[in-house]
Amino acid sequence: MGSVTPRRSFAIQKVRVRRANVGNNSTMRLLAAMPRWSLLTANFQNRDKARDDGRMTSGKPLPKKGVMDIAAYVPGRETAPGADRVYKLSANESPLGTSPEAVKAISSVLDHLETYPDGHANALCEAIAQVHGLNRDNIMCGNGSDELLTLLCQAYLAPGDEGIVTEHGFLVYKIQIMAAGATPVTVRETDCRADVDAILAAVTDRTKIVFLANPNNPTGTYLSMEEVRRLHAGLPDDVILVLDAAYAEYVRRNDYESGIELVSVSDNVVMTRTFSKIYGLAGLRIGWLYGPHHVIDALHRIRGPFNMNAAAIVAGVAAVRDRAHIDRSVAHNDVWLARVSEALRDLGLVVTPSAGNFVLIHFDTVSPKTASQADEFLMRRGFVLRHVNAYGFPNALRMSIGTKEANEGVLAALKEFLEAS
Ligand SMILES: Cc1ncc(COP(=O)(O)O)c(C=O)c1O
Repeated sequence: MGSVTPRRSFAIQKVRVRRANVGNNSTMRLLAAMPRWSLLTANFQNRDKARDDGRMTSGKPLPKKGVMDIAAYVPGRETAPGADRVYKLSANESPLGTSPEAVKAISSVLDHLETYPDGHANALCEAIAQVHGLNRDNIMCGNGSDELLTLLCQAYLAPGDEGIVTEHGFLVYKIQIMAAGATPVTVRETDCRADVDAILAAVTDRTKIVFLANPNNPTGTYLSMEEVRRLHAGLPDDVILVLDAAYAEYVRRNDYESGIELVSVSDNVVMTRTFSKIYGLAGLRIGWLYGPHHVIDALHRIRGPFNMNAAAIVAGVAAVRDRAHIDRSVAHNDVWLARVSEALRDLGLVVTPSAGNFVLIHFDTVSPKTASQADEFLMRRGFVLRHVNAYGFPNALRMSIGTKEANEGVLAALKEFLEAS
């Protein structure tokens, strides 16, 4: 009768397609010998190539407008190929490691990993509130402060809206503004510092959010509380001011304040903080936000139901109460931030004055003493610093304050680099 059922006809088509693709018996044997994953990978690659060549229509789901314009965040490198020992100074992590109390606390969750964590991370919010003297209901925890920055953009920005960032500001802001479909507006800085007047001049009736890292990464510069207050006073009431105080614990300046006071008396200011730096818990991803109820309420509605994992909650509680570890870390940073900055200047390098746990080192624009050449020289000796091209500094490297051994090693290596002809 010659008729085939739809199911059979599909099977016949598949065989025909396979035959057409395979061509001859030796190719068939070759294909049969290949592992399944490599056939599947080849399949993807062939389709991508056909699309690139215009032989196939896009025929695939496309991300919403703007997503493919985003330059993905590139984290600090971790390896130095060929070096005997690696000193990672590329991510502003703690040179003194994790709070030992936090490490001990994690063991308490290991017996019950089958249960979901507390979706509101109550224990952690309460511990933070107690240590900082805040109201628990104004605190929300996140999977790193990155998550909280993301949620702020998702909740407050839509296509057509604008978010203000500063020229050398932390890159995640721009990424998340664009991910929310809105437009980032980049405002020039003055001498590597955020410029309050320039930010206020950039505000339009489309502005919905202003991001300020204080101190900023990668410059290490900060705005005094008086300047932050002036910025806030100049913003319309319906614009959120985000004070990202990821490095607040390190700052030793009388005119600095992390933002707690301003949040407490405002309806449009939030402060974000992280456990990734001074607490040495970057691997567990813990951040927190202090803000008005109405903002916290909006963010809770759109976050994942269990955005904080069980280990992060108990480790965070222990770390925020581990005053001894915090004090040791601050003292270490105080000594080495000053020593490293001064020694680099003595070598003739320009160093942006930093209030954080890192320094931005500027190099010559002329070969053979450029930042890329210094980076290569340091990498060969195991010192991994951060390229900051993407932050608008093609001729600078950012160095996290490390252990005594790491800091002294970088200083000796840079001396050698600069003295070499
Ligand atoms: C200014 C600033 N904000 C936020 C973060 C992200 O912190 P977290 O690890 O909590 O996501 C960083 C990390 O480097 C940072 O430098």
